[in-house]
Amino acid sequence: MRGLAYFCIVSAAMYALAGMAFGIVMAASHDHTLMTVHAHLNLLGWVSMAIYGLYYHAVPAAADTRLAKIHVGVATLGLWIMIPGIAMAVLGMTEGPAIAGSLLTILGMLLFTARVATAQRAFA
Ligand code: HEM
Ligand code: HEM
Repeated sequence: MRGLAYFCIVSAAMYALAGMAFGIVMAASHDHTLMTVHAHLNLLGWVSMAIYGLYYHAVPAAADTRLAKIHVGVATLGLWIMIPGIAMAVLGMTEGPAIAGSLLTILGMLLFTARVATAQRAFA
């Protein structure tokens, strides 16, 4: 594994570590207020990022494109804004970062959809 696929899998594993540690702190403290932060850190950070990594490992020609790099960059930026953003929204501070992070996250998924769909024609 190399390049973009490696970046995605290593990031995903680190998000899993952070998400699980968050889960353990939540369980130990009996305070589940930030459950949605934990859930989305695991589901977007660990699960989705790992799927991106496995895809780019399976289709290296797709990984070696600008679209793929932009996709992973947007997905990563979206996650880093969305996760603290959810915490701020849940704590009643502001909804702005959650909205911005969500929009970047769905844009990332749109770019991934475009990469997957067009890679079939370009590299199959
Ligand atoms: C050490 C590992 C983990 C611990 C200790 C942990 C702990 C927790 C706790 C305490 C809650 C709150 C439950 C509630 O209030 O009903 C929770 C919710 C949740 N966790 Fe985890 N978790 C862990 C790993 C994961 C992973 C790996 C994922 C996803 C891949 C995940 C996904 C979720 C989701 C989706 C919820 C929300 C469930 C719901 O809607 O009721 N967790 N977790
Ligand atoms: C742009 C991306 C996403 C947005 C804006 C979003 C938004 C939300 C919102 C507003 C809730 C309700 C939270 C509450 O009731 O307090 C929620 C819950 C949930 N979402 Fe997402 N979501 C996104 C992506 C995902 C993805 C990719 C998954 C799974 C792979 C997922 C799984 C869940 C689950 C399991 C719950 C219930 C647990 C919880 O309340 O935290 N979401 N999401």
